[in-house]
Amino acid sequence: MKESLLTVLRDKKSTRAQFRRAADKLAELLAADAALHVQQEGISVETPLGKAAGSRLQEQIVLLPILRAGLLMLPHFMHLFEDSKVGFFGIRRDEKTALPQLYYENLPSFSPHDRLFLLDPMIATGGSASLALAHLKAKGADMSKVHLIGILGAKEGLEKIRKEFPQITINVVAVDPALSLRKFIVPGLGDFGDRYFGTA
Ligand code: PRP
Ligand code: URA
Repeated sequence: MKESLLTVLRDKKSTRAQFRRAADKLAELLAADAALHVQQEGISVETPLGKAAGSRLQEQIVLLPILRAGLLMLPHFMHLFEDSKVGFFGIRRDEKTALPQLYYENLPSFSPHDRLFLLDPMIATGGSASLALAHLKAKGADMSKVHLIGILGAKEGLEKIRKEFPQITINVVAVDPALSLRKFIVPGLGDFGDRYFGTA
């Protein structure tokens, strides 16, 4: 299912509506995958007919979209993790150098016990995610509880992040082999934010 949705994203003939629908559905599936990593605690409840063993989420969840493209993932994660805190990283790549520039940051307080989901559909050079991860580390996050969740990653960028932050968990739908001269993922899907928001 995820592969077929990614194929719609890759196809340059997909309309904006088709692209958005596929991206939204993928984000929903990624949120469900993320839920599998959240620790639960056992509880018991009274049903109308007796006592039943159950469970509830034990950890505080912190959702951290990287603007802009990470924004598309946010509503689906917020829907699933109703009590989550939300923080924002505004990071954009310089068009010439492809180096990430932080232009906005607004983070909630969090503790090393919290589970942090960093959301960005695209990991190309890895620079943007790496910048956000460095900020989380500096603010005291337990990096073994940080998950980078994306749709498409380039091998080079993922290797960089794994080297710099070996403790984090990375979940992407697919890994592409190369980067273009302008540091776009190849074959990739083009500029995610532009295609999703219609700014191309
Ligand atoms: C895109 C994408 C990632 C980043 C990935 O954002 O959403 O944040 O590039 O590239 P990297 O791994 O080489 O850093 P972009 O800078 O285009 O900003 P936008 O989402 O505002 O369009
Ligand atoms: N950002 C995108 O949206 N696409 C790429 O291929 C690289 C960075």
